Amino acid sequence: MNLVLSFLVAVHSSLDLFLSSCASSPPHLYLLLPECDCSGRSDECVFDMDQYRGTGSGGRCLNCRDNTDGPHCERCKEDHYRSSPEDVCLPCNCNINGSVTQQCDQTGSCVCKEGVTGEKCDTCTPGFHSLGLGGCRRSEGQ
Ligand SMILES: *[C@@H]1O[C@H](CO)[C@@H](O)[C@H](O)[C@H]1NC(C)=O
Repeated sequence: MNLVLSFLVAVHSSLDLFLSSCASSPPHLYLLLPECDCSGRSDECVFDMDQYRGTGSGGRCLNCRDNTDGPHCERCKEDHYRSSPEDVCLPCNCNINGSVTQQCDQTGSCVCKEGVTGEKCDTCTPGFHSLGLGGCRRSEGQ
């Protein structure tokens, strides 16, 4: 309880400016219910002091749904994609051997190593064979 109280006091003293413009509302209401825009992907949010200092907005959403992430569930998690903000985010599933990175573009296409092709980089191009660790191997005499 002491930890919680000192946190609230610390937050409160740092928020004096903000609160003075909302003097008619009880300060603790703001601390317990930080202003949150979670893009409709979360119902939980906490006040994050570091984020408040950095951006002027302290509400950080928790447990973003549909594979979203970010303070406002505003983007896809790493290695996920979607073509528009209304969509849920889907895993890229880039082939671990054939792809340069596990992050795909917004259509789900992965970035392939030399000699590899396919949306998920799981196929060797002509002149290459045997997709494995390090990608496809160049065929002899090519
Ligand atoms: C990557 O290559 C290794 C070695 O050839 C293989 O055992 C593994 O199954 C490959 N992984 C995928 C996802 O193809």
